[in-house]
This record gives sequence, C-alpha cells and structure tokens, in this order.
Amino acid sequence: MSCNDLPWILGPTDEAKAEYRKIIAATTDAIVESFHDELAYVGPSPAKLKALVRTETLLPDHGLGFEAVMEKLKCDVLPNVLRTWSTDYMPHLHSPALLESIAAELVIATFNQSMDSWDQGPVATEIEVEVIRHLCSLYSFGPEGDGVFTSGGSQSNLCALTAARDWYCNEHLHHDVKRHGLPQNYRKFRLYTSAISHFSMEKSAHLLGLGYDAVVKVPVDDHCKMDSAALRALVEADSRAGSIPFCVVATIGTTDFGSIDDVAAISSICEEYGMWLHADAAYGSGVRLSEKYGGRLGDLGLCDSITVDFHKMFLLPISCSAVLVKDARSLDVFMIHADYLNREEDEEDGYTNLVGKSIQTTRRFDALKVWISFLVRGKDGFEELIDTCIGNASYLYGRLLEDDAFEVTVEPEISSVVFRLAGSDDLNKAVRRALLHRHGVVVGQTVHQGRTCLKFTLLNPTLTHEKLDGLLELIKELGGQLQIAP
Ligand SMILES: Cc1ncc(COP(=O)(O)O)c(C=O)c1O
Repeated sequence: MSCNDLPWILGPTDEAKAEYRKIIAATTDAIVESFHDELAYVGPSPAKLKALVRTETLLPDHGLGFEAVMEKLKCDVLPNVLRTWSTDYMPHLHSPALLESIAAELVIATFNQSMDSWDQGPVATEIEVEVIRHLCSLYSFGPEGDGVFTSGGSQSNLCALTAARDWYCNEHLHHDVKRHGLPQNYRKFRLYTSAISHFSMEKSAHLLGLGYDAVVKVPVDDHCKMDSAALRALVEADSRAGSIPFCVVATIGTTDFGSIDDVAAISSICEEYGMWLHADAAYGSGVRLSEKYGGRLGDLGLCDSITVDFHKMFLLPISCSAVLVKDARSLDVFMIHADYLNREEDEEDGYTNLVGKSIQTTRRFDALKVWISFLVRGKDGFEELIDTCIGNASYLYGRLLEDDAFEVTVEPEISSVVFRLAGSDDLNKAVRRALLHRHGVVVGQTVHQGRTCLKFTLLNPTLTHEKLDGLLELIKELGGQLQIAP
C-alpha cells in the first residue's frame, strides 16, 4: 500500500482512528526517548546545525511516508531541540510547558477550531468568553470588562495601544481614526513608558502610524521602576510645548529585571492629564495567583487595559496571551462586519463571533490551555509553582550578595536575577558561551548601566537551591579558566 492510500485525516472510521492513535503514540515515544540527560542544549554550533538541516528538496516527487519522516525527525531534529523543561535553561521569559497543557494542545490541533466565528468553534467560542470573564475578575475589572486571546504579549500590547489611540482621538479630539485615519496633528502624539520597557512599545508606535519618536522613555529609579516624578515632569513639559500625551504604559515585570512600575502613582498622573493607562503585565501577571507576592503588582484594576501572557509565568505552551480592557467598548476598534463571516444578525440571534474583538481573523483556541490548567491545578497549585520561582530568585540574590566573586544589580521582585561575574564585559560574554557549548547550560545576557551582565530567568519550578549553588560554582570556575586563557 502506498503511503497515500492510508487515512490521513481523522474521521469516524475504525481505520482512521487506529491511524491517529498510531501516529500520536509514535510521536510520544519519539519525544520521550529523545532525551537521556538534564542538559538544556546538546546540539552543535550554528554552522553545523545549518549543515545538518540542509536538504536537497523539501518536497520530494513522492512522499516518504510518516514512518520514514519520523526516523529523520528522531535523527536530525529531536536530539538538537532546546529543552525548555531543563533546569539548565534560563535565558529568557520562555518557560517549560505544564503536562496538562500539552494535552490541551493535542485537542486544539486535532479539532482545529478557529475563534473568528461561532460556526468555526461553537464551544471554543463560549469557553474563550467564559475564560475572559474570569480573567477580568482576577485582574479587578468589573462586569463591563472584556478581552480577547492573542498570539502573545507583543500583539496584546499592540491591541491595547490601538484602543488607547482611538479612544483618545474620539474622546478628546472628536476624531474617528477607524474611519478617517490619523488626525492632522498625529505627529504630536506621545506615549510614555519606562526606559527599560519592552520593544513592542516602539513596534506598536510604528504600526499605529505614530513612529518611534512618539515613544517617550521615562527614566527608571535604582530599582529599575519608572520614576513617577520624572513622568509627571515630562508630561507637563510636553503638554506645555504643544505635544499630545495620550497614553502611559506601566511595565508590570520588566523583561530583564522583573521590576514593577507603581500603578497607583502612574494612574493618578493619567487621571490628571486625561491619558489611557495600559499595564504591560506580560511577565508579572502570573504573580497575581500568589497570596504571598500578589500585592507586589499593585491595583491593576486602575488600568484601562492589561496584557496577560500565559506562555511566561503560567507555564503554558506558546502561544497563549490575552489583552483585557476595563470597558468592553474599547475593543470595538476591531469590529467590522463581513457577509461571509460575521453577519450582524448573528449577534442579534445570540451567536458570538469573536473576530469583532481581534486583529486576527483565523485564531487558535488557546483559551483551552488556560481552562484546562486552571481547573487541573487550582489556585493553590499555581501558587506553589509561582512562589517557588520567586523564592528561588530571592535565594539566588542572597547567595550572590554573600560572594565577592559576583556583583549584583537589582533585588528581584519576581523571578529574574541580573548579575555579573566580577571582571570584564568580555569575560562575562565568554562565560555565557562556554556554559552553552561546553556544559549545555543556557543563561541570559543583558546590559545594566553600560556593563554586560548574566541573567537567570527562573521560570522552572523544579529548579533547586543546590542546582543554583552548583551553577554559581561553575561560573566561577569558568571565569578562572577563561581569564588565564591567552
Ligand atoms: C514586558 C514584556 N512585554 C511584552 C513582551 C512580548 O511578549 P511576546 O514575546 O509574547 O510577544 C515581553 C516578552 O518577553 C515582555 O517581557
């Protein structure tokens, strides 16, 4: 039988079901048999990897069949995959995936629902609506709140800033951007965010037609939090000079340091100057599930919109994010009707078409991952995971303070620790490379006050204090070896 005679699409026949089971079982076996150690990366350097995956043709005249390709996957791909579950992996806000959420991914891919219209995902639509309702309550938005799942924090931020721009133009300038495009004075628009906020601020400003120049970077204090006094002074000076401050973005967990801007102080400045307040809580949103540390976020209910990323602290697979808005009407910026997709009469008859809240059309059923994992683990289950990660960061910071071989930067509020091995920038860079290629350990690198630093982004709750102690010893050892190398 040629491979093209086999059932390739799941259906109600016994043959199709058997083939589905076989393919999933073979894939599961290949995955679990592909690793024998704890290391994060055991693959080769970029050049060797490039050569390994180079292929004459990706579209052979005749298909090779699933089994042959699975062998190739086992040989060329799986041994070289980065293992996000490894306790040696900590460079970015990139987490291991909870087991039950991988089951959710299988359901998502198998049924391939799309979130744009009710008739492409009936129960999926109702579940997303319900998950969003609970999230609004979790983040202190009232019943007027709403939201939508997105591809990630960058898209959530873009959606929120689109809503902010259009709200400002409608409310203050009586100008409808959706219909007429940007107002004439658009070059004067200003968006305020801390000097160390995520680059999706600039990307969004560009896409919104305002440009990078519209983004005003507010200095941060010694704890890497936005300096609220500096924000007020900048907004005041810009207003006097004829600019149009329309929005502030507070970062609730900066990418490198996890530092949390003071929402209450920023909110009162926004009130005073009639600006929108967005919370980029892509990183920090997970902390909300911790009784012990949740208060560190401040009252996010003061914000007009919030970015929540589930593929960071919540440990769900990529992609999984939501943007929440305090007033459901803010999402009308994305509403447009089409006869072929989301007729107005559908809504009148009780069929919800979520496409009217999103910049995407076809969209994944990512809400299922939140639905499954929240129910499986409950608040106490998530709390334990999140408290462990935050506790690990504070333990590591304490160890670094005690050891003269290291220099610390900012005390962690969440789960990231940025520090340096005492010595040159080049030494710190060389140590990071050696950790990756000699020891299979992947740590982050960034810059603080002009100096190259190492970064441990601790999102893996299985990481132990002993492991952290061992890594610090290894870094010191490598530092000694690399310093004496010619
Ligand atoms: C503070 C912050 N905002 C936004 C983002 C972007 O999120 P995503 O990578 O999901 O687009 C990140 C990513 O690390 C981040 O740290």
